[in-house]
Amino acid sequence: MSLKGRDLLSLYDFTKEEIEEFLKSGETLKIKSKIGENSPVLAGKKLGLIFEKPSTRTRVSFEVAMYELGGHAIYLSSNELQLKRGETIADTARVLSRYLDGIMARVFFHKDIVELAKFADIPVINGLSDMFHPCQVLGDLLTIKEKRGRLDGIRLTFLGDGNNVCHSLMLGGVKMGMQIVISTPKEYMPDKEVINWVKEEEKKYKGEVLFIEDPFEAIKGSDVVYTDVWVSMGQENSETKKKILSPYQVNERIVKNAKKDFIFMHCLPAHRGEEVVDEVVDSENSVVFDQAENRLHIQKGILSLLL
Ligand code: CP
Ligand code: NVA
Repeated sequence: MSLKGRDLLSLYDFTKEEIEEFLKSGETLKIKSKIGENSPVLAGKKLGLIFEKPSTRTRVSFEVAMYELGGHAIYLSSNELQLKRGETIADTARVLSRYLDGIMARVFFHKDIVELAKFADIPVINGLSDMFHPCQVLGDLLTIKEKRGRLDGIRLTFLGDGNNVCHSLMLGGVKMGMQIVISTPKEYMPDKEVINWVKEEEKKYKGEVLFIEDPFEAIKGSDVVYTDVWVSMGQENSETKKKILSPYQVNERIVKNAKKDFIFMHCLPAHRGEEVVDEVVDSENSVVFDQAENRLHIQKGILSLLL
């Protein structure tokens, strides 16, 4: 199977087998890196990294992944590109395609990365949009597989805001045969279009997505408890939203309902004291830093397959 030249905009576009290829590639490159045997599979390749929003993990993991595989990454703040002065996304895509072998972009509006991919002749990778965060979730699947030995049949409960990370978990999870439980207040349910996509995917795959509003009910029997910030980048910092989401805080009381050996996951950055408390992020059940490390290994897997 070859994924060379493909864009990675959302996990909707990839089959279970293709997602498995990303995971396998990430696993292999992780082992190689741990034994000090990074091979220069991306020698001579150049990746542009466009950021419209801040980043710690995504930026550094992509830059280090390119470096360790023998390629080169170029950080492009959208504020310093001519995009800022009105050059179109289409023209930017056409020009960058003449210099680079791939583009990773973090954008406010998903439609903008779709436009970038439409006009670029090189693979475009979504490093987070308002709708999806596919690279995050590929890394998360790798982490769950490492910690639990499988994905099939794993129950993951996502609590909080039905956001970009939640959307990608729904799509990736259902394809990998997981039971994804979404626990959000009605006001902050995932996007309707994504729910409809997932309903379609459920017909093809063994996995399922359940919506359980009561967080105590939702977390029952969970292998994985996952949360993310209540206010994502680009969203208004709303006190009303935080108040509505407060019953979904991942704290010691709520996690008592999960399986005893549950793992706690968060894409980070965490807003400690809001969506999660220190006692959970810093507990033995928490795998958040292994999860963050796996961003590096999966980026290598993604880049070596697409570029
Ligand atoms: N999880 C994640 O994407 O982190 P950054 O915003 O730091 O890249
Ligand atoms: N949902 C968060 C994820 C950050 C990695 C955001 O979009 O800000």
